[in-house]
Amino acid sequence: MRVEHIGDATLYLGDCLEVLGTLKSVDAVVADPPFSFAGGSSNGMTSSADSQFFKHWLESVFRRLDAASKETAPWFLWCDWRTAAVFDSALSGAGERYSRRWVTQVLAHDREMVGMGSPFRNQLDWVAVIRGRKTDFGGRIPKTQPNVWREYWYYGKHEHHNAEKSVSFASRLVEWASNVGAVVLDFCMGSGTTGVACACLGRKFIGIEIEPRDFDIACRRIEDAQRQGKLFEPKPAPEQVAIEGLA
Ligand SMILES: C[S@@+](CC[C@H](N)C(=O)[O-])C[C@H]1O[C@@H](n2cnc3c(N)ncnc32)[C@H](O)[C@@H]1O
Repeated sequence: MRVEHIGDATLYLGDCLEVLGTLKSVDAVVADPPFSFAGGSSNGMTSSADSQFFKHWLESVFRRLDAASKETAPWFLWCDWRTAAVFDSALSGAGERYSRRWVTQVLAHDREMVGMGSPFRNQLDWVAVIRGRKTDFGGRIPKTQPNVWREYWYYGKHEHHNAEKSVSFASRLVEWASNVGAVVLDFCMGSGTTGVACACLGRKFIGIEIEPRDFDIACRRIEDAQRQGKLFEPKPAPEQVAIEGLA
C-alpha cells in the first residue's frame, strides 16, 4: 500500500476497509463516501446495486470507522436524502459497539445554483451529522446555526473530481467537527477537498482513496494548500441567521 506523508497529512492509496483497521484515535470524520449506488439514478444512469448492498458495505465501514474513532468523534458524511436513511439503518442494524452512533441531523449546502435532475433540478448537497454517545461539539457550533448553509458552488465545473465538493463548505464542516490540532479523517477523499480545508485550518489530516489518479490529485492539492497556506485560507464564515429562542 502506498502511504504519503505531506506535512500534517497522511494519505493512503488503498481500500478504506483495509486501511481503517489500522487507524485509531481519530478526533473527527469529515468524509464523502460514494453514494450514487444507494439505489435510484444519477447523471441519467440507473444504478444496478441497491440499497441493501450499500447498507452491507456501510456496516463493515462503520464498524471499522467506529473502532478508529475516539468516542467523542463526530462524523459528518456527505450524502443524499436516500443515503442518509441508509446510514441510519446501517448504524442501527449493526452490533452493539456502534449502535451508540446515530444520525442526529442532516445539513444542506444550498449551492445557489441548480445541478442535475429531472423533474426538479438538484440544488442541495446533504451532509449527515452522526454523533457518538460522548460527542460534545464544545461550543464550536453557534446556537443559532441553521442546518442550511447558503454559499455559491458551481458543482458542474469538475476541476479536480467529478464529485468535487466546495473547500469553503468543507472548511465549515471541519471547524464544526474539530479543534485546531485535531486529527480529521476522510476515508473516501477523492481529490482531497477535506484535506485542503484541514491544511488551511491547522488540523492534521488522514485521507484514504482507492483510485490512483484521484490519490495523486489529492496529494498535489494538499501539498499546494500547505505550501500556499494563507492564500487558500477560507473566508470567515458569513453570519447565517436564525432566531435565538426558537427551539
Ligand atoms: C464522492 S467521491 C469524493 C469526492 C471528494 N469529496 C472531492 O471533493 O474530490 C468518493 C471517492 O471515494 C472513492 N472510493 C470509493 N470506494 C472506496 C474505497 N473502498 N476506499 C477508498 N476510497 C473509495 C472514490 O474513488 C471517489 O474518489
